Amino acid sequence: MKPTIFVARHIPDEAKAYLKEHCLVDKWEGGGPIPRERLLERLGEAEGLLTSSVEINAELLAHAPRLRAVSTISVGYNNFDLAAMKARGIIGMNTPEVLDETVADLIMGLILSTARRIPELDRYVKEGRWRRGDDEVLFGLDVHHKKLGIVGMGGIGEAVARRGKFGFGMSVLYHNRHRKPEAEAALDAVYLSLPELLREADFVVLMTPLTPETKGLIGAAEFALMKKTAIFINASRGAAVDESALFEALNSGRIYGAGLDVFEHEPVAADHPLLSMPNVVTLPHIGSATESTRNQMAMVAAQNLVLALKGQTPPNIVKELK
Ligand code: DGY
Repeated sequence: MKPTIFVARHIPDEAKAYLKEHCLVDKWEGGGPIPRERLLERLGEAEGLLTSSVEINAELLAHAPRLRAVSTISVGYNNFDLAAMKARGIIGMNTPEVLDETVADLIMGLILSTARRIPELDRYVKEGRWRRGDDEVLFGLDVHHKKLGIVGMGGIGEAVARRGKFGFGMSVLYHNRHRKPEAEAALDAVYLSLPELLREADFVVLMTPLTPETKGLIGAAEFALMKKTAIFINASRGAAVDESALFEALNSGRIYGAGLDVFEHEPVAADHPLLSMPNVVTLPHIGSATESTRNQMAMVAAQNLVLALKGQTPPNIVKELK
């Protein structure tokens, strides 16, 4: 007997076909994200749930009496209420590794865009403001041979470090919950405490997962430690940063610029103060958003779910629920 699953978002055809082979599939076919009340109504029979960014909490679990496994199409799983899932014995899975290189590419894009002011100067040209003799007004900062500080040295952090070291001759500093001797050997990466890294780095790249410990990790005290020429990049989760403190640090010239793929509330409101800053490059949370990577992530998430529902051990059970 095939298990019943609910797919709460759009997924590519290949993943859909795979799931249909192994499961009885009910799927949200409406445009855009599924409204919460629609989702709750559809979970009565579901043993498995495939989703991304939906809050999996006690309220949802109460509507899903048969649920055994939840698979998210993302590496981040801050949408999982781990205590509520654990209390019900629900298996939770994510999609690490498959997106590392794609997100690292985007982070390099943010580094280059902020340091060399690419979006700002693109507007400058297109708006007809470029005049012969313009010189210092177009200056930015060098990236090559600068100090790259990575906060959160997981797979994505290491992929950024490789690009920085081997592509741009940067020296790599990192801070992590635990030291990574292989990364230190392969990348000459230097482990520092967070305050040491913030003082030293030219580029501070935040890649920590969002957890109760990392919520608001970078705030006024942390920006105060950074160089005046520092550039802050966030491609993890918006809530890991105090956005008012970031605005203040940028507005007062405390730091040089910021590149943000993520915000505390997404989609970010058009009148958010950070969007008014010329020295901030913003993106709509597209770290993993290439067709190839998103297809692979959907397949990995689908395979995780099928294995869990068959009673086998999927490779990507989130560590807190093992
Ligand atoms: C994830 O998968 O959690 C990333 O935020 C994608 O960009």
